[in-house]
This record gives sequence, structure tokens and C-alpha cells, in this order.
Amino acid sequence: MKNLWLHLKQKNTILFSFLALTLLMCCSVILLSVNEGGRQETRVFEWPRLTVQYEINCTAIYEMEPVELGKTLAIRKQKSYIGPTDEAVVNATSDCDRFVSQGYGAIQGSDFEREFPLAFSLVVHQDVALVERLLRAIYMPHNIYCIHYDLKSSDDFISAMKGLARCIPNVFIASKLERVQYAGISRLKADLNCLSDLLDSEVKWKYVINLCGQDFPLRTNAELVSDLKELKGRNMVESKWPGGKQWRWTFHHLLKDSNSEYYNSPVSTSEMKSPPPHNIDMFVGSAYFTLSREFVFFVHQSSLARDFLAWSEDTYSPDEHFWATLIRVPGVPGEVPRSDPEISELISKTRLVKWWSLEERLYPPCTGVHVREVCIYGAAELRWLLNYGHWFANKVDPKVDPVLMECLEEKLAEKRLSNCLAK
Ligand SMILES: *[C@@H]1O[C@H](CO)[C@@H](O)[C@H](O)[C@H]1NC(C)=O
Ligand SMILES: *[C@@H]1O[C@H](CO)[C@@H](O)[C@H](O)[C@H]1NC(C)=O
Repeated sequence: MKNLWLHLKQKNTILFSFLALTLLMCCSVILLSVNEGGRQETRVFEWPRLTVQYEINCTAIYEMEPVELGKTLAIRKQKSYIGPTDEAVVNATSDCDRFVSQGYGAIQGSDFEREFPLAFSLVVHQDVALVERLLRAIYMPHNIYCIHYDLKSSDDFISAMKGLARCIPNVFIASKLERVQYAGISRLKADLNCLSDLLDSEVKWKYVINLCGQDFPLRTNAELVSDLKELKGRNMVESKWPGGKQWRWTFHHLLKDSNSEYYNSPVSTSEMKSPPPHNIDMFVGSAYFTLSREFVFFVHQSSLARDFLAWSEDTYSPDEHFWATLIRVPGVPGEVPRSDPEISELISKTRLVKWWSLEERLYPPCTGVHVREVCIYGAAELRWLLNYGHWFANKVDPKVDPVLMECLEEKLAEKRLSNCLAK
């Protein structure tokens, strides 16, 4: 952030001073950053930014200029990125005043944002530095953040999450924690634990969004608020006909073996399950959601939702049918009628995921690397990501392309500035 301001300052000092005056009323965030720019030390646990070190121009990356993109490929080849260790972040949170003043202290939303607080459920298990960067990118002092770490996480990871929660007043650890199993019910319960705590929070949030460690925002808080207001109480969740996925709940699945250890993922048996309770019609989608407070409250207290959750215990990847199904139940807040068309991931703005199998048919090819079926984005996708219209990207990882994340951060900072100017 600091470097961006310095850079802008150098570019046109006079214009910038003028902007600073104009922004005095609405953009205290940015002004504080500018004012502190000269004094602020590099954050104790962070390395210099590669875009500064290698003089990479993010606007040129956005414009897909070959020379600039070439620099990012060279950095990737050299593997120049060394992120902060989990331990370094743990250490940094040992001095809360310093930690907060270096990344969070100056952030402040406009009235428009403050009257529409958001909640976040972060279900994370590794890579402290990445989680902290995500948190900083979505942070606003009037929002509320629940962190669910995995009971299997390392000691350093757990200490760091507790450090974040101790230092930042509106960040807390879920009161109940799960040992998260891939495609098991525990993944869903992790979010439900956070949702239940979030309902108890003093912050009267309007919408809640769940995130994992490799997500990153593509919209500023103000842009998100503006899009969410337009939903007028509806939810943003994928919800499609089950197609070939019926097996996931037609048969009983095993979560543990005889030694009471969890399998890597639920194991299908030949034992048939009963149909879903309350004549619920099944739909499928993804684990990612954006839900209204009213809907979450409904899920929290409704016996239908409780019975459906209990029935889902031995299904495969219940997080991918729980939300998709419940938003279609007649009478729920923000109901999507069962007869309405499918809500695919291209329509649901919650998450922008690039599937290998759909590349070149639905979107340009991945410029990062594929992990299993999914793209970890590269710098040449900056423009596509920012212009697609979705709210969060999955997956980002600075170990794959460190420049992409820095440029996303820089472009979001620029958008915050221009949002202020527009007011
Ligand atoms: C960055 O690149 C853009 C687009 O090519 C260009 O207009 C701008 O002048 C560049 N900025 C600097 C500081 O070189
Ligand atoms: C731990 O943090 C303190 C300041 O809080 C700093 O002076 C020290 O160098 C750090 N040590 C390590 C190993 O990072």
C-alpha cells in the first residue's frame, strides 16, 4: 500500500495534494495511509513487494503488455517469492499495537458501508500469511469476522489465528471447532459453527460470506455493499438440478474406519438411505455462499433445517447440497422457487473458479497452474478477474504467482480511491 502511495505521490505531487484535500471528508482511510506513508515501517513479518523490487507496473499487467507480463514469468521461473513463515506472523501478533497500526489501524468505511455491515466466515487450515493477507483485503472495522481453524492445523497456525483474534477487536475464533474432513459433514459444520456465533454477535450484519484460505476479493467493500443492497434480501448461492450427483445422498457413506480414524474422504456403501426429510427437493451447488441474516436465522432455528442437516451427516460433500437445497425450500427468506432456472456458478457471483474442463469454452485458459481440476491464477488473468463481475476469486497463491496478488491489492486500493472521488 505504502509503495503505491509513494509512487502516486512522485507521479504528480500537485494533483495528489489537491486530491487529498478533496477526499478529506470521505476517505480518511486513504488519507491516513498517505500521511503515514513516510513514517510507516515495513511490516515486521513481510518482505519487500516484488512489484516494487522488480519495478512492475500493475496497470501495464492489467493492459496485458507483453514486456510487463514477461517480467512476471521471469519471477515465477526464479521462484523469487519467499513468504513470511507462520512463526513470523505469530511473533508479529505478540505486539498488538504495532501489528494493528501496520495493517488495520487506518482502515475506515464510508457511512454507506457502515450502515450495511457484513459478516465473514473464514474456514482455514494452513498458510498464516495468506490468511492474514485475505483478512486485510476484506477488513473493515465495522464488519465482523469469524475464523474457524481446523483441529488438525499446526500449533503455529493456531497460535497465529488466536493472535489475529486477540489483536483485532472484530475478529474472533469460532466457539466450536471441527476436525475438517474433505467432503465430509465437518466442512459444513465449520461454517455452521461460525454462523451461529455470528448471529450472537453485537454487529447487526446484513449478509454473511464464507471464504477459505485461497480466496481473494475482486471487489472493494463499498462495491460489495452496493451489489448486496441490490439483492434485496435474496441469497447468492449456486443451485442446480442434481443430474449425476444423486449417488451422493442415495447411499450411506462412512466417515470413520473401524479404528475411529477419518477416511481421506467419505466412503460409499451399498446401503440405501431414506429419502430426504420433509419431502425436500434436492439441488446441488457449491460450498460457497452469500446469505442474508434472515436466511441464516431461519437455518439456525428451523426444525426442517436441523432434520436436513442430521439426514446429511452420512452423505458425500453435504456442503455442496445443503445451501443449494435450502434456498429453494418454499417459504424461506429470499426463497428461489423450485421452478426457477438453475443458478450456475457463472450466474452466482459469490466465487470465480476456473475449471480446467471449461477453459476455452467458457473462459480464457489458466495462466497460472492447475491443481487437480482448478486453476491457481496467474498475472495475465488480472484483467479477466477484475472485469468478470464476480466478488471473490478462487484460487490465488503467491507461491504460484506473487505478482497477481500484489496487483489485485493495488487495483483494489485504486478502486477505493476512485470510489471516494465519485462521491
Ligand atoms: C504504467 O503502465 C501504464 C499502461 O501502459 C502507463 O500508462 C503508465 O504511464 C505506467 N506507469 C508508470 C509509472 O510507468
Ligand atoms: C519478534 O517480534 C519482535 C517485535 O515484536 C521483533 O523485535 C523480533 O525481531 C521478532 N523476532 C523474530 C524471530 O521474528
